[in-house]
Amino acid sequence: MAPTFIPNRSAAVAAALCFSLFLTSALAAAKPVLSLEKLGLRRREKLSHLHFYFHDILSGRNPTAVPVVLPPQANASRSLFGMVVMTDDPLTERPEIGSKLLGRAQGFYASASQTELGLLMVMNFAFVEGKYNGSYLSILGRNTVMSAVREMPVVGGGGLFRFARGYAQAKTYTVDYSTGDAVVEYNVYVFHY
Ligand SMILES: *[C@@H]1O[C@H](CO)[C@@H](O)[C@H](O)[C@H]1NC(C)=O
Ligand SMILES: *[C@@H]1O[C@H](CO)[C@@H](O)[C@H](O)[C@H]1NC(C)=O
Repeated sequence: MAPTFIPNRSAAVAAALCFSLFLTSALAAAKPVLSLEKLGLRRREKLSHLHFYFHDILSGRNPTAVPVVLPPQANASRSLFGMVVMTDDPLTERPEIGSKLLGRAQGFYASASQTELGLLMVMNFAFVEGKYNGSYLSILGRNTVMSAVREMPVVGGGGLFRFARGYAQAKTYTVDYSTGDAVVEYNVYVFHY
């Protein structure tokens, strides 16, 4: 039905008309499903800013980040290419671990670069405080941890974050190079309904 290769003009017009009729009826059929009110969502998107500190704790008795796959040859690559670390990292209001818990970063990061510390981040930020309690944001992005600011896309979410999209900026606050423990400041900007 694509009108592109039709040699004769009237046939092309007929095909275009047929296509637009098809499109109109397809849109008409889809209309009832497209109501935001029916989904219990407000009409317009809003932009929210979330700010918190992410605690990646590898050391001690209760690590929140656990390597589940070690690089095939531990010394072969300084980028730890192939390593996978599972996390259930606390997200707090202030840099101190004892400050108010806002949520947890549940997922994994994996070393996906052979030449630098470049992580694939696959995480849900599951919130436990205030109006976002029970809602979560899904992050899928690249984290070159030695860079001053890293940016990762927010690809979706649940609860109040249905249809979410946006980005997260991560900035290392403190890091202990002997243990790998780190506190990272996050600013997240997200559109949602
Ligand atoms: C890795 O490096 C450390 C320190 O240089 C060394 O002691 C160890 O034997 C090396 N391991 C392998 C598998 O090469
Ligand atoms: C968050 O929601 C859970 C489950 O509904 C509830 O048990 C908990 O008390 C809530 N936390 C806060 C801080 O409101």
